Amino acid sequence: MLERVKHYWNARIHDLEMTEHDPGTPEFFADLEEYRFDKLRYLPEVVDFNGYAGRELLEVGCGIGTDLVRFARGGAKVTGVDLSETALALAKQNADQAGVTMRLELANGEDLPFDDTTFDVVYGHGVLQYTANASHMLAECRRVLSPGGTAIFMVYNRISWLNGLSKLMHVELEHEDAPVLNKYSIAEFERLLSIFSEARIVPERFPVKSRLHGGFKGFAFNNVFVGTFNTLPRAWVRPLGWHLMAFCKR
Ligand SMILES: C[S@@+](CC[C@H](N)C(=O)[O-])C[C@H]1O[C@@H](n2cnc3c(N)ncnc32)[C@H](O)[C@@H]1O
Repeated sequence: MLERVKHYWNARIHDLEMTEHDPGTPEFFADLEEYRFDKLRYLPEVVDFNGYAGRELLEVGCGIGTDLVRFARGGAKVTGVDLSETALALAKQNADQAGVTMRLELANGEDLPFDDTTFDVVYGHGVLQYTANASHMLAECRRVLSPGGTAIFMVYNRISWLNGLSKLMHVELEHEDAPVLNKYSIAEFERLLSIFSEARIVPERFPVKSRLHGGFKGFAFNNVFVGTFNTLPRAWVRPLGWHLMAFCKR
């Protein structure tokens, strides 16, 4: 299965509708960074990219390195691993263009090539849901984390506004065709994280206007759904956030 996962991400990591620029160019990275942090406005509010200066930080499934560049700019000593050679080659270009240093290794997050307790922080955003065995990946993340270290993850919430809407409107979500894509309820994610001494789950990622969907569905989403949903008190709708962020202690 991991071979299929690797094959998929090698072909699809840069197969992105949100940029017209060639993969690896400065414009490509700028478009992706801009798109990501527009859609994921919550991310810099809940993840302190500047808060780990001098600490050893590992990103599992780092993709093209967008978040890793932010951690490196904040002074963390960063390492990124990914199954995909294509992703790592782009992450290297991203780091070089950003003028930051990062250690990048082709590795399986379910079998990390690092000693126990090597890292102060382990980060995996949008990765556990795409790997063959999420429990194996979590156990490895915990193993390489120092005692008292912090782990941060994000998986998709099955019981969320976006999953419900995509089913109702018959609109496929990004990477829904990946060989593995698991969505979790809050309770299921809590059970997976029970290997950590502490785990706090915060649902995030509420509707923002889509640049990629047109036609009637896109119009209705952008002009009716987004505004209406966002008038609802956040405390009521928080459990329906699309991204389940988890903040854990070893
Ligand atoms: C949706 S992308 C997320 C990339 C990045 N974390 C981000 O937020 O932009 C999923 C990434 O996880 C990687 N991945 C999936 N399973 C993996 C595994 N077992 N070990 C390492 N990387 C894995 C894929 O190759 C891909 O780069």
